[in-house]
Amino acid sequence: MKTPRPCTVPHRSTMRRSSTLAAAWVLMISNAILQFDVLAAPPPPPTPPKPVTLAPQPIPPAAPVRTALQDLGEKIFNDTNLSEPRGTACASCHSPNTGFSNLNGSRIGVPQGSRLNVFGTRNVIHNSYSSFTPAFGFRVRDGDVDPVGGLFWDGRVDTLAQQAQGPFLAPLEMNNKDAASVVAKIAASNYATQMTAVFGADIFKDSTKAFQRVAEAIAAYETTNKLQSFSSRYDQFVSGKAQLTPIETSGMKLFMDPQKGNCASCHTMNPKASGPKDNLFTDFGHYATGIPRNMAIPANANPSYFDLGLCGPERPRPALSANVPVSVSVESFCGTFKMPSLRNVAQRQAFMHNGFFNNLRDVVSFYASRNSDPKRWYGPAGVANDLPIAYKANIVTDRAPFNRTPSSGPALTEREIDDVLAFLKTLSDQAPPPPPAAGPAPAQVAINPFTAPPPPPAKPPVR
Ligand code: HEC
Ligand code: HEC
Repeated sequence: MKTPRPCTVPHRSTMRRSSTLAAAWVLMISNAILQFDVLAAPPPPPTPPKPVTLAPQPIPPAAPVRTALQDLGEKIFNDTNLSEPRGTACASCHSPNTGFSNLNGSRIGVPQGSRLNVFGTRNVIHNSYSSFTPAFGFRVRDGDVDPVGGLFWDGRVDTLAQQAQGPFLAPLEMNNKDAASVVAKIAASNYATQMTAVFGADIFKDSTKAFQRVAEAIAAYETTNKLQSFSSRYDQFVSGKAQLTPIETSGMKLFMDPQKGNCASCHTMNPKASGPKDNLFTDFGHYATGIPRNMAIPANANPSYFDLGLCGPERPRPALSANVPVSVSVESFCGTFKMPSLRNVAQRQAFMHNGFFNNLRDVVSFYASRNSDPKRWYGPAGVANDLPIAYKANIVTDRAPFNRTPSSGPALTEREIDDVLAFLKTLSDQAPPPPPAAGPAPAQVAINPFTAPPPPPAKPPVR
């Protein structure tokens, strides 16, 4: 930031930084954007495997009764006919078997849309527990102003129903030319009568209205226990029905320890409380954590292209400025992304907004050593390489695990990284039981991710 702000106004903790460091960044930026692929960097030395005790499998909670609207929403969500060309459903990119986020056949950290070899610009943010997301706004706490909430990595949409219209028409996702063509496909589907039963016989006459109703049905489905079942081993542990292994317990302590992982300072949780909102593993805050640039994203071939989260390009900036507290500049939020819930994280195929990581252990290693060994992540320049110089100061550095230096070493040892990883694996939900039998039996039975074989990369079955 060129203009220093008065110290009396609230400011982001992430802005507290040394100007020496900023100057160093300026000097080093010429090398910062480089064709460097961390995934190809030498792996850390292997750690000896540790014995793992298997804890008893939890019993999934009883399924609450589902509404006709939710059932309809589920059909639409899973319908692979609703893309252009056909073959891609919402579920193709938000499959429960892969942590409610799926690259739809892509291997580059961002999903493939309905057209072969046409890729998006961001990783899929999972949609489990999304219904707990507050509308976008700003939170002032301990003198810091943080953006909070909203759907998508940049919080640009407030409700699930608003969100659900987008993917159908997005050229890089389901690629329909307009709402009317989506509605026509639904009118020709084998669940068209469910649409008329729920919304009335005239529903297909006005395609704008019908499209809105389609999105409302999907949103209703996204609040069901198919997407938020609170049925993980961790949930069983919190409610006293299961124990964590010693390794998992150690991982949880490191996750919570303010001097070690300090993960829980952002990914909020409380093992002593069992309210649904007590353990979402996010408070929906947006932060710049300095994720390395994913050179495999086609848009990143252009060195001047940057995904700045809150500052665009997906999110229109004028809309943001209207919300920002007067004392804070919008610029201090450039490069921040919404923190996803870590529930079901171990099953995902790629991590972070740009899908840079394809291995969860690497994510934990990154947290542990981003500041003690920056060259490992950013290449020889050792400088965060996925945002312009002007915004580097927005990156969080003021707390563990990001407050380390090369001389103080990583925040977590290799063994501790393994323990945190073991803990993260306790956050995977079991698929909820099918809803109470009302009407025809479901075409697809619920899959238990603990016992099911890995799903094929193919599209979900047509219902
Ligand atoms: C081709 C892959 C793809 C398809 C198909 C797709 N999505 Fe997504 N979804 C994404 C990506 C990528 C994001 C993140 C985009 C961003 O942040 O800008 C996302 C984000 C979301 C979110 C935000 C979750 C949160 O908590 O912030 C929801 C909800 C969602 N999608 C629901 C849907 C629905 C409903 C459909 C079908 C109508 C759908 N998606 C189809 C890729 C896909
Ligand atoms: C300063 C707040 C903060 C702290 C501390 C923090 N995280 Fe995060 N975490 C985030 C944000 C923000 C993102 C999304 C960043 C992005 O994509 O640009 C994220 C993303 C993640 C993801 C990827 C999730 C996904 O679905 O892609 C994992 C895994 C994760 N964090 C684990 C951890 C662990 C483990 C720790 C502790 C060692 C930790 N985090 C500490 C804010 C934080």
